[in-house]
Parts: sequence; C-alpha cells; structure tokens
Amino acid sequence: MCGIVGYTGNHQAAPILLDGLAKLEYRGYDSAGLAVRDGSKLAEVVKATGKLYRLADKTDQGRSLPGTCGIGHTRWATHGDPSMINAHPHVSGNCSGSGSGAVESDVVGVHNGIIENFAELKEKLLHHGYVFYSDTDTEVVVKLVDYYYKKYKIGPIDAITRTMVRVRGSYALALMFRDYPGEVFAARKDSPLIIGTADDASYLASDVPAILKYTRSVYYIDNLQVARVAPGSVKFYDLNGDEVSLPLTEITWDAAAAEKGGYEHFMLKEIHEQPTAVRDTVNSLVKEGRVDLSAVGLTEEIIRSLTQIDIVACGSAWHVGMAAQYVIEDLVGIPVRVELASEFRYRSLPIGEGTLVIVISQSGETADSLAALRVAKERGALTLAIVNVIGSTIAREADHVLYTLAGPEIAVATTKAYSAQLVAMDALAVEMARVRGTITADQFGRLLEELSAIPDKIRRILEDKERIQWFSSKIANAHDIFFIGRGLDYAISLEGSLKMKEISYIHSEAYAAGELKHGTISLIENGTLVIGVLTQSRLFEKTISNMAECKSRGAYLMGITTNGNFSVEDSVNFTVYIPKTDEHFVSSLAVVPLQLLGYYTSINHGLDVDKPRNLAKSVTVE
Ligand code: AGP
Repeated sequence: MCGIVGYTGNHQAAPILLDGLAKLEYRGYDSAGLAVRDGSKLAEVVKATGKLYRLADKTDQGRSLPGTCGIGHTRWATHGDPSMINAHPHVSGNCSGSGSGAVESDVVGVHNGIIENFAELKEKLLHHGYVFYSDTDTEVVVKLVDYYYKKYKIGPIDAITRTMVRVRGSYALALMFRDYPGEVFAARKDSPLIIGTADDASYLASDVPAILKYTRSVYYIDNLQVARVAPGSVKFYDLNGDEVSLPLTEITWDAAAAEKGGYEHFMLKEIHEQPTAVRDTVNSLVKEGRVDLSAVGLTEEIIRSLTQIDIVACGSAWHVGMAAQYVIEDLVGIPVRVELASEFRYRSLPIGEGTLVIVISQSGETADSLAALRVAKERGALTLAIVNVIGSTIAREADHVLYTLAGPEIAVATTKAYSAQLVAMDALAVEMARVRGTITADQFGRLLEELSAIPDKIRRILEDKERIQWFSSKIANAHDIFFIGRGLDYAISLEGSLKMKEISYIHSEAYAAGELKHGTISLIENGTLVIGVLTQSRLFEKTISNMAECKSRGAYLMGITTNGNFSVEDSVNFTVYIPKTDEHFVSSLAVVPLQLLGYYTSINHGLDVDKPRNLAKSVTVE
C-alpha cells in the first residue's frame, strides 16, 4: 500500500504535494519522490529513501522544485527493495542511478497497487527496445503507457485505456505527459483514488487526508475509469475512452478520522482491509492454477529434500506457525515443530540435514526472531522468512523470503498481517503437498480454489460484525476469559486470546480443549466466559463435551462454528457462524469474529485500541 498525490493549479506544486504525502505516510514510508513541471519544461524528478522528511529537506521543503503541476509518492515496497532507484516517480525513458534529475521522458508516473503480470509485460517491452532501470512493476506500467502513446499517437486517454486492458492487478495511477503541460492523468482499478477541485486548482490523492486541507469536494473515481485533471476541472472517461460524469461528494470527516479511512481506529480499518491483504497475498503466489514460488526460490528439489520443518516466531506470528503446523502435517506429512523464537534461540535443538526453518515476522525486525534466524543459519539449516516488510533485516538475512502483501500495519495488535501470513503458509503447504505427491491434482486444484475464495468469505463475516459488537457489550465486565479448541481450533484460540488480552487488558487463556480437565478447569466458576472454536468436524463433538464440562461448572459459552452446524446452539449460549471452507483454511475465517470481539471489548472499556499500554508494534529488543 503506497500513497500517491497530484496537484495542478496556480500555486507552487511541491509544497502542496509534500504536505499531502505527509498525511499519507501511514500508507507507506520506505521512500518518497516528486515530479514537478514548470510550464512546458520537462518534469524535474527528486527522490529520497527513508521517511518523508528527507525528501522535504532535499527539496528545501519543496522550494527548490518550481512548477505548478506535479505528482508525488510515498512508498511501501512490494516489488523491489526500498531504494532510490525503485522509489517513485518512474519514467518512460531512462533514469540516473539516483532517480533524480530532469526527465528526458514523455511520460512520468506514480502508482499504488500491484501489477500481477508485470513480468510478462516487461518482456514485451524489452522486446520493443525499452530499457529498465528499476525492479518495480510501476516502471513497467509507465513504460507500457508510453509504448501505446507512441504506437497509436492518439493521446494520453487512449494510451492509458489500452494499458488498463492489458494489465492484471490493482492500480491507482497518476501520470504526466510531456506534451500536456499543466495536466495530470489518472486511472484506477481496486486501489483507492480521489480527485478534488477547488477554485482554480485540482488535487489527486490515495486518500482523503491528503487534500482535506484544500477541499472537501471530491470525486471518487470508479474502477476502470480514467481522469484528465486540469486546474479546477476534471473530465472522466470509461475504458472505451467515452466521457462519463461522476457525482461530486462533500467530505464530512475530520482530518484524524479521514486518515483512518472513516474508521474510528486503525485496527478496525485493518480488520476490514483483510480481504484485500489476503487477496493480494494469495494472488502473488497463486497464478493460473499453480503456486508460483519462483520469487521465493524454493525449488521443487528443495521441497522434495525436506525431512523436518521448524517454524519460529513470536506472538501472533507464532500462532500462525501453530496453525500452519496442522495444515502442513496433514497435507504434506512432514514433521513440524513450532518454537517460540525467544526459546529457540537458547535451545540446543538438533537441526539435521533437510531441516527448513521458517521464521514468520510482520515487521521483519523482531529481535528474538532475528536471533533465532541467525542461530538456525549457524546450525546449517535452510531458512525461509515470511515477512511483510520488504528489505527488513530478517528478509535480508534469510536464505529465502516470501513476502506477504498486507501493506503497512499501524495498529499494534496485528490483524491483516496475521491473516496474510496464514494464507501464505497455506499456499506453501499446498504447493509442498503437490510437489511431494501427497495430494492429487484434483485436490490441489480444489484447495487453490478454496484459498482464492477466502477474501470474499472474510468480507461476508465483516458484514455481520454488529452481532459481535452486541455480544462484546455483554462481556464488558468479564475478568477471566477462556478460549478453547482442538487441532487448528486450538491455534485459532491462541490468537483470539492474545487479541483479547493485548487490547482489552482482560486476563484470558487459550487452552487445548482436551487439556482443561488436567487442572485449569478448577478456575471455571459461575459466569466464566468460555469461547469454544468448533470448525474441525472430526473434533467437534469432543470440544462440545469439553464445553459442556465447563457449563456444568457455571461457565457462559460462546461458540464459533461453520454455517450449518446448528446443533451447537443446543450447547452454547451465543453462536457465531462462519462460511464453510476447506477445514485446512478455516483459521482465516474463525479469527475474524475473535479480532472483532477483542476490538469492541476494548472500545467498551474506553481503551487506546491502536496503541495498547506496555506494547510496541515491533519488539526490536530482547
Ligand atoms: C500481535 O498482535 C502482537 N502485536 C505481537 O504479538 C506480534 O505478533 C509479535 O511481536 C511479533 O511481531 P512480528 O510479527 O513483527 O515479528
């Protein structure tokens, strides 16, 4: 997820663009850049790595970049390391190492989104004589627009619509053409983009906060539409190049609410971004009926050679490992150990030939996980990192990296990154099973279909969130909550319990349901809330009886189960149903009501959901 901005009007563009990017830094902040043009002069491009202030300093707060028309970008890397040359804007011509300097190009652009077929398009353009300077998908799409612009000589709208027909993926694009001074062109598919007008100026941005200071009158450009933006006026076109009209919307949010996309907290926003995070992560791996690990570098030969998998992580990432353990063992038949990184780093765990150590980390900077990675490498293990931050330390030091595409996660309590990690591990398990022949081709195809259907099923759960909100008000005074389950349901319970603890400060424990009777059940008393996760059909009755044992001691029972398992209502007090899916992938669905329960319970307590006490987003100390 990146942030893009654009401006054209009578004022100097660079300061306005920098101001807008500052309001979008929550969307990504590993590098930034501007392209500003002064009249018919070519655009001047300036980039900087790191936080936005470095770009502001480099351009003397925008004063060193004269011009009244420009575009800007703050990056969250998805293709290509965070570096100067990969930073946006990107150009249709060639570009110096720093990426800065006058643009001898016909087209310059910025992009938020993921071009899934960028590799094949890059091949096509190389064949037509284009030279590439970066590793980004954005450079490909800018050059593709240029290709059509020069080939058909009809104009920007035609070149852009031809490009839109050709690319697969998501994009919010802002482009400038040498021959069209004072104008910015935009196109959108799936990534957010708004266009605002005020008096004699026009503004483009990925999100409302960037332009709220200048105007509250905005157009929400629709999917597969193109905009031609001039000072104070905008024209919209459909994919056929026919002009269409859009309603002007008045924004009523305040600036703070706008940064969260209208949600009250980043955590709620990120819970709702899960369908996109899961879709983008699955689509980065599952392509045309197969799992593509070429970017990861895990060859079929390596997969066939594996005799042991150790998954090492902390917190919610460790819970992903606990879920993946069941999936891998069931589908692939390789023994899997799941270790807390803080323990693994000090154990004398035998690591033999054929061991793959998988380190899961959203930030890629967690000290314990990084230390565990280094220990694993010292002991000769092959290492794979599942990371959400491109170029992070764990990503750089692991032998292989599989990136999740959840985008920046601001709330301390992880949700969308956790979900993206889950499906990444599921896709990995399915591919391993295919390579090692432990599933049939039909099973493989069906599992991939199920995986691709997860985003919509998450969306359906979110449409019913009010029931969870209502139930959270019933448990606001709970002081002990137990989450129980067996198998994958136990792994889900772990995450549900941590969500509740870390943001509502209510003591909670996750327990393997069959283990309760070995002591902990003594804590169950009248009114104790016990939440049972009941998605694994072959374990359903076992867990139901464990819950009945709790009920007989006074517990209040909530059950989470799959649509159709209505018998659960004979046993529990409150039931939440989730859509059916292959039971290997059900964690991605069952966790959503638990995330919401923790969130609303925290709200009921009036707590700071996004920044819970004592916690940090990335624990970079031991
Ligand atoms: C999750 O909600 C917590 N914030 C925390 O447990 C987190 O998962 C853990 O610190 C690991 O972080 P990482 O994924 O960045 O390594």
